[in-house]
Amino acid sequence: MTTYSICLLPGDGIGPEITAEAVKVLGVIGKRHATEFTFAEALLGGIAIDETGSPLPEDTLVKAKAADAVLLAAIGGPKWDTTDPAKPRPEQGLLGIRKALELYANLRPVKLFPALLAASSLKPEYLEGVDMLIVRELTGGLYFGARDRETDVAGASSDGGPGMRAYDTMAYSEFEIERIARTAFEAARLRGCKVHSVDKANVLESSRLWREVVHRLHAVEFSDVELLDQLVDNTAMQLIRNPAQFDVVVTENMFGDILSDEASMLTGSLGMLASASLGDGTALYEPSHGSAPDIAGQGIANPLAMLLSVEMMLRYSFAMNDAADELAAAIEAVLADGWRTRDIADAETPAERIVGTVAMGGLVAERLVS
Ligand code: IPM
Ligand code: MG
Repeated sequence: MTTYSICLLPGDGIGPEITAEAVKVLGVIGKRHATEFTFAEALLGGIAIDETGSPLPEDTLVKAKAADAVLLAAIGGPKWDTTDPAKPRPEQGLLGIRKALELYANLRPVKLFPALLAASSLKPEYLEGVDMLIVRELTGGLYFGARDRETDVAGASSDGGPGMRAYDTMAYSEFEIERIARTAFEAARLRGCKVHSVDKANVLESSRLWREVVHRLHAVEFSDVELLDQLVDNTAMQLIRNPAQFDVVVTENMFGDILSDEASMLTGSLGMLASASLGDGTALYEPSHGSAPDIAGQGIANPLAMLLSVEMMLRYSFAMNDAADELAAAIEAVLADGWRTRDIADAETPAERIVGTVAMGGLVAERLVS
């Protein structure tokens, strides 16, 4: 029997609820595929701050590095919101673990489920053929550049006197750009063979280097892949106007953060968007949505992005493609049968088809054995 160890990071808000559904579904998959999944739970985010004072305790890093894969639910919440740079924030835990595991490539597939067409904020005719992969650079750019807050800066106050000034920096090295571009081109070869490289090269120096490096790599190693440059503001518009034009979209960290939330709405809900964060070592899988503190503990969170992240884990970390296909088909079938969590229900959904977190996880688990 094959054994895979998974480090579970349930985190905050709805995190523990959707993690429980992932464990349930993995139990079923393990039985069907003669595989044992073992779980080591660790603290990350707000709960880690509460229990240890740090959003990323050392024990968590040790467990994550020792595991075959990491499954993270969500972190953050109003309880830990602060603008005081001296106070710990849950997000530092997430950014810290991405950096520590060198997870430079964040893959966010945006795929439509036919059953959810009505839940999208776009008209169905705009959605036909939408199937894209956003490849977001995850360990560089604005998120990790030099930043600071300066006090007593002359002329910085609104009254013209000394005041505060803060800055963040977007910096990219050739190496960082080339490795994420390579991920994107390789992914495109397995899909529609088209890459949109998204930047702001009409303004930003880091974007100009981005464009040069992407084109250099393209010319030398990937000239069989179609490459198009697009300015990020235009991409924001094109995602709504003509989303089917995209196959692979590769972009820097912050642009990818914003564009992937936007693209998720094509699928009807942020609750449907999975992600894989890959580097050269242990990979991490997490839904793209947040911890939804407003609905935490109510049993109504959508566990499907978490289960779709499990699907990616089966594929990328365990090479269990059959199991991944089965899980994808089970989710599709449950949706086709009309089952919805609240976030993906629409005006036509009968009340008895709207279910909670545990029931949705159970429906998928049942499908896997039927
Ligand atoms: C995401 C999230 C995170 C990010 C936050 C929680 C730090 O929005 O994974 O997209 O900005 O990367
Ligand atoms: Mg985000």
